[in-house]
Amino acid sequence: MNMIRDESLAPEGLEKIRWVKEHMPVLKNLESTLGKSKPLRGINVAICLHLEAKTAYMALVLKEAGAGVVITGSNPLSTQDSIAAGLASRGVEVYARYNATAEEYKEYLYKTASSAPGLVIDDGGDLVSLLHKKFPEHLPNVIGAAEETTTGLIRARAMEKAGALAFPIMAVNDALCKYLFDNRYGTGQSVVDGIMRSTNLIIAGKIVVVIGYGWCGKGVAMRANGMGARVIVCEVEEIKALEAHMDGYEVMPLIDAAAEGDIFVTVTGCSKILTEAHFKAMKDQVILANAGHFDIEIDKEALAAITEGPRRVRKDVDAYIFPDGRRIYLLGEGRLVNLAAADGHPAEIMDMSFALQVMALKYLSDNAGDLENIVHPVPAELDKEVASLKLQGLGIKIDSLTEQQKTYLESWELD
Ligand code: ADE
Repeated sequence: MNMIRDESLAPEGLEKIRWVKEHMPVLKNLESTLGKSKPLRGINVAICLHLEAKTAYMALVLKEAGAGVVITGSNPLSTQDSIAAGLASRGVEVYARYNATAEEYKEYLYKTASSAPGLVIDDGGDLVSLLHKKFPEHLPNVIGAAEETTTGLIRARAMEKAGALAFPIMAVNDALCKYLFDNRYGTGQSVVDGIMRSTNLIIAGKIVVVIGYGWCGKGVAMRANGMGARVIVCEVEEIKALEAHMDGYEVMPLIDAAAEGDIFVTVTGCSKILTEAHFKAMKDQVILANAGHFDIEIDKEALAAITEGPRRVRKDVDAYIFPDGRRIYLLGEGRLVNLAAADGHPAEIMDMSFALQVMALKYLSDNAGDLENIVHPVPAELDKEVASLKLQGLGIKIDSLTEQQKTYLESWELD
């Protein structure tokens, strides 16, 4: 059972979980309602997510809803050992340690997949992919999975296209109450948080280069700008580049931005974004951070090949030194900076994302056997319910349409 670093850390972990719970009213509401009806009774839920406090609270809500829960981390640097211990002390099966080696990370993922899950929550697609590749005997048990990220959905849709999906997948990332808030405001704040915590340097007055202007990139650019940085955006898609321009940022090719930036943030989901040519063009003491799911966006091997290093100069900061003395600082080993060097998105944001995850699992379970083995959108009513519960939790009231207004909006013959 459990593979964790230190079970004596449980009280510290439970305290952190209690803190976030008090800032997650939607999830708290689900805990109370599903705790009574126990809709997931008897179902094993396997989770591969960043193992920090908000994730842990969701795991406990699923337990309260009747499920058995097995969990692993979705990145070796985002697991918090106290949280892993706290969850284990509450009856969740945990396979995760901070700074796990590549072999350990793989072993934990295998342990999680071999629990023969009925439902899955994935962040990045590793667990879904492993189940399909190595555990064909478990596939018939899986009612379905819910995916948290853009990256994971790209993989799920590739599997769907190849006719390889053995169970339905709910596209939680694509729900409005997910990407409008989590990808934009969550990533925006937590990435700046990770850069600030790891470096203790100022953002104001610096040139921040944001590479990729999807919802996450938009959030990073907005918050860096709000902290007083001059923001340059690099994009490959015409419409997004125009959006960045009209949002007030400079837009230019990455090779040009490379010579100007002080801080670079990759948010593309693609590999080999910052490469040798960019590193060679950079100024002394630039900071590189990645906010995409995998550590593939900054070519660490190419950086190591042309510099001396990495030399650890601060927690979560490695220096790479050129023969001419110029230094490049890489944060969090090029892994998600907001989770490797901070605590991930704020609790109020993950409240919505994780409420959607819980609702998506309930939806899969309620519709077991009736859904095609494809990627499904989260039903709009569930999205709306999360928004409504969130407004309620925030004490915000809104207007509703009058009957006359509804009639006007529904008719086409009226003058
Ligand atoms: N906390 C848990 N999962 C997270 C995610 N995918 N992004 C940011 N913070 C998180």
